[in-house]
Amino acid sequence: MVITTSKWKILNKYDFELLPGEPQQMPDGDYSYYQYLNKRWQETGKNVLCQEFLLSPHKRSKNANDLIVAEPFGGCGVFSIAIQHLLKPMHHFIGELDEDCVRQLYFCTSSYPGVTVHQEDAHERLGVLPADIYVCDFPFFTLIKHSEQNMWVKEMERMVSHEPEAIIITDGSSCRWHFTANNLKKRGYDVNHHRESYAKVFDKYFKEKYNYRVTAVAYHGTCFYIKIQPARLYLDKIAIKHIPAGVGINGLRPQ
Ligand SMILES: C[S@@+](CC[C@H](N)C(=O)[O-])C[C@H]1O[C@@H](n2cnc3c(N)ncnc32)[C@H](O)[C@@H]1O
Repeated sequence: MVITTSKWKILNKYDFELLPGEPQQMPDGDYSYYQYLNKRWQETGKNVLCQEFLLSPHKRSKNANDLIVAEPFGGCGVFSIAIQHLLKPMHHFIGELDEDCVRQLYFCTSSYPGVTVHQEDAHERLGVLPADIYVCDFPFFTLIKHSEQNMWVKEMERMVSHEPEAIIITDGSSCRWHFTANNLKKRGYDVNHHRESYAKVFDKYFKEKYNYRVTAVAYHGTCFYIKIQPARLYLDKIAIKHIPAGVGINGLRPQ
């Protein structure tokens, strides 16, 4: 049987090849990443641009590369390939629940040394192993769900227990921000119509609960990508990048 893959460029530079696959529903109710890549790949391009902004400062020098990255929601491996090129980690542990995605992850990372792919449930495995950087492209995460429904709390506690240098969190609150902002205001959070106000609210919550601070945020119309770091690494300012509509093609481009 001949399998036809599709070919892409990530960040206009890095080759990415995708096996055909179908989205499956996951136990929490969302769909595996094929749902997105088959239908809304332009959004993924903006997501990768966000990751580039947040990850680039963490690259090690050639002589001191001991970096361990954990990526619990591997999806189809778009972020994985970006991480490989941006950070060149010594070890890169990738988890994912969906079978088609796991097959794709093995396929697209096979030529990168130091990558380990596991089919596993992040509810059980996320934060069990120590890492310097956790890149958590959560299927569902918002401050309201985390603080009121305990969503991803035990996983966050496990990660923080290893005192990682950075945790990157995907938070869906940017989508329909004006509704979310009202919901946050009703709960007493100090947000306004600027999406950037979310960074400060998130920072206050994470400082009090985990002694981690928001050091950088990249966002576009549907997602925030929030980097938290140990409070001792906070430099009095949150670095912010907005990815506007229409530039996603610079993050992911079909060939
Ligand atoms: C936002 S997507 C990740 C996309 C990925 N960053 C990429 O570049 O392709 C989230 C992924 O998490 C997976 N997922 C959902 N719940 C999970 C769980 N409990 N454990 C592990 N993976 C899960 C989904 O199958 C989905 O592919």
